[in-house]
Amino acid sequence: MVETLFRRIAGLAWVAAVLACLCAAVAQGQEKELDTPYVPTPQAVVDRMLDMAQVKASDMVIDLGSGDGRIMITAAKRHGARGFGVEIDPRLVKRSNEEAKRVGVAERVKFLQQDLFNTDFHEAAVLALYLLPDVNIALRPKILAELRPGTRVVSHDYGMGEWRPDARETVPAPDKTVGTRKESVVYLWIVPARIEGEWIFELSSGGKTRRTRLVLKQRYQFVSGSVELTGQGDVQVSDGRLRGDEVRLVLPPGALDRGPVELIGRVTGDSLNGTVRRGEREVANWSARRKG
Ligand SMILES: C[S@@+](CC[C@H](N)C(=O)[O-])C[C@H]1O[C@@H](n2cnc3c(N)ncnc32)[C@H](O)[C@@H]1O
Repeated sequence: MVETLFRRIAGLAWVAAVLACLCAAVAQGQEKELDTPYVPTPQAVVDRMLDMAQVKASDMVIDLGSGDGRIMITAAKRHGARGFGVEIDPRLVKRSNEEAKRVGVAERVKFLQQDLFNTDFHEAAVLALYLLPDVNIALRPKILAELRPGTRVVSHDYGMGEWRPDARETVPAPDKTVGTRKESVVYLWIVPARIEGEWIFELSSGGKTRRTRLVLKQRYQFVSGSVELTGQGDVQVSDGRLRGDEVRLVLPPGALDRGPVELIGRVTGDSLNGTVRRGEREVANWSARRKG
């Protein structure tokens, strides 16, 4: 991640930009000070952010702190998506709406003068961010609580603290306007379903169903826990991962088979359903119901 906005902010250009923003904010009647100064994402990085998020025409994209609107306008122009950007600086909001009109995407994309911290973004299929790290971290609980499992969150240059990204790429950015490094980092997270807790677990194979107990612990997209198996007590579940509402758990050799087996499944509200796989073969079905 290396060269961060923090470091760049230490540069004279950033200090000048922040001072200019503050003066302009006062002059323009902006509601509050910026939580992140205005620095546009280079176009090559915008393109990569949207590609990594696999933006498609049916997606609702939201950019928090939308600057001159380039992320949303590109999402509409290149991917046919719709959505909105929120931006606190009224001059940037005006410029973005004018540009959306000029390039013919104003039907699909709107820019609102609004504080990103007071924005309802639960409808996003893709959330785009280029904000300072502490702003990302302040948004993290709302992102995890309000966005649907499977929502893609992309961020330019900054992570989410202990919520590790599902993908991270360094992208050449020859037109980077601030700093000396000619590259950016793009982070992607897939909002995980919430599966922590106790479940009534059922395993079905050869016409027989065994009912037992599954206990799961979750740290963002990483899952651990145990399943009670007859004659073996609590068997540890390892390498548990969530990708949106898709879950993968591994049971050790000797638990259900001589080798390790994978439980692959999907979360739907308070139910989990899936198959038990040994290598590529499906050897049983499993399901679970949240207890309580
Ligand atoms: C680093 S720029 C990113 C601009 C654009 N998303 C891009 O990537 O090109 C951050 C933007 O957030 C805006 N901003 C800062 N604090 C904000 C707040 N509380 N609510 C809405 N926008 C804010 C700034 O005015 C600035 O345009």
